[in-house]
Amino acid sequence: MKALICHKNGSIELIEKEMPKLQNDRDAIVKVTLSSICTSDLHIIRGCVPRFVPETVLGHEFVGEIVEVGSAVKNLKKGDRVAANCETFCGECFFCKRGFINNCEKGGWELGCRIDGCQAEFVRVPFADTGLAKIPDNVSYENALFVGDILSSGYFGAEMCEIKKDDTIAVIGSGPVGLCAMMCAKYMGAGKIIAIDVNVLRLKIAKNQKLADFVFNPLVCDIEKEVKNLTENRGVDSVIECAGAKDTFEMSWKIARPNAIIGVVAMYEENQILPLPEMYGKNLTFKTGGVDAVHCEKLLDMISKGMFSTDFLITNKISLRDIKKGYEFFENRSDSCLKVVVTS
Ligand SMILES: NC(=O)c1ccc[n+]([C@@H]2O[C@H](COP(=O)([O-])OP(=O)(O)OC[C@H]3O[C@@H](n4cnc5c(N)ncnc54)[C@H](O)[C@@H]3O)[C@@H](O)[C@H]2O)c1
Ligand SMILES: [Zn+2]
Ligand SMILES: [Zn+2]
Repeated sequence: MKALICHKNGSIELIEKEMPKLQNDRDAIVKVTLSSICTSDLHIIRGCVPRFVPETVLGHEFVGEIVEVGSAVKNLKKGDRVAANCETFCGECFFCKRGFINNCEKGGWELGCRIDGCQAEFVRVPFADTGLAKIPDNVSYENALFVGDILSSGYFGAEMCEIKKDDTIAVIGSGPVGLCAMMCAKYMGAGKIIAIDVNVLRLKIAKNQKLADFVFNPLVCDIEKEVKNLTENRGVDSVIECAGAKDTFEMSWKIARPNAIIGVVAMYEENQILPLPEMYGKNLTFKTGGVDAVHCEKLLDMISKGMFSTDFLITNKISLRDIKKGYEFFENRSDSCLKVVVTS
């Protein structure tokens, strides 16, 4: 089969590889119908993911059809349409029992990072009974694709912020994750959502999809001033940081009101500074993390009921054969690219 691997020097190569086989009784083999390229894949290529094992097949966001299950997988069978969780988790360890699956003692971010991922024709999924969710009949593969990674990450960001009804929430970064965070913040009761990005096209999408009430571009306005104008000089009730740029961590606490929560979803490529003396007395709460993607079934159910739709994020489709071109599009944001979907 064809599969995209990443070498130690960060170069990517489409190679011929043996079909994956069951290795454990909780494994499943899935024929990948659609996969995506994620910003985290770019972090790997740039050498910013220490846990990455060179030569691994990339990709951790996908949907597909089950072709084989191990003997201990009772909730799935051959032919099932499934959406994958970007985290591999046993469901039984100290962390899994508490919902902190990102830190599963036997898993975490494995697929496309430490074990072969989904930018291939087939993929082996360990702990398939927890890591794959059945797609409801009325949900398309396109609409289920983002459930296990970016939609879960947006949900995780909004959840970290403990949103109360009518809160004003700022989302920094209107990329795929930021747009999903806006969707989830609204669902959790946010009154006003402020989208912040330096990319005008993405701000337009946030507005046109009715995900944001206000949009601001830090290149053309003073964000702190605009946020204060909208919040009787207080600052926002919470901030979801989904940009991960050089100055966006600083922006996040500067636009927050005293006692706000700042949920950091972004993965930085450099250390950030937490200037405690400067923010003393503002009594902020910071939360960070790799997504604990524990709501996949619920999110699929919400999509099935028409409460969420994420297929508008798909701006480019490319076949696995041309995946390297897809990486170029995605990295350069050519054609106002939001998400590149890879078909098999
Ligand atoms: N915590 C997790 O488990 C998890 C999961 C998925 C993604 N992520 C991370 O979340 C982040 C967002 O993911 P994405 O796919 O949406 O990435 P993305 O790169 O498409 O989006 C980031 C957005 O931030 C904007 N931006 C850049 N500089 C800015 C600035 N100075 N001010 C405001 N906006 C600015 C960019 O224009 C872009 O639209 C990434 O860092 C990604 O690695 C984390
Ligand atoms: Zn990802
Ligand atoms: Zn576990």
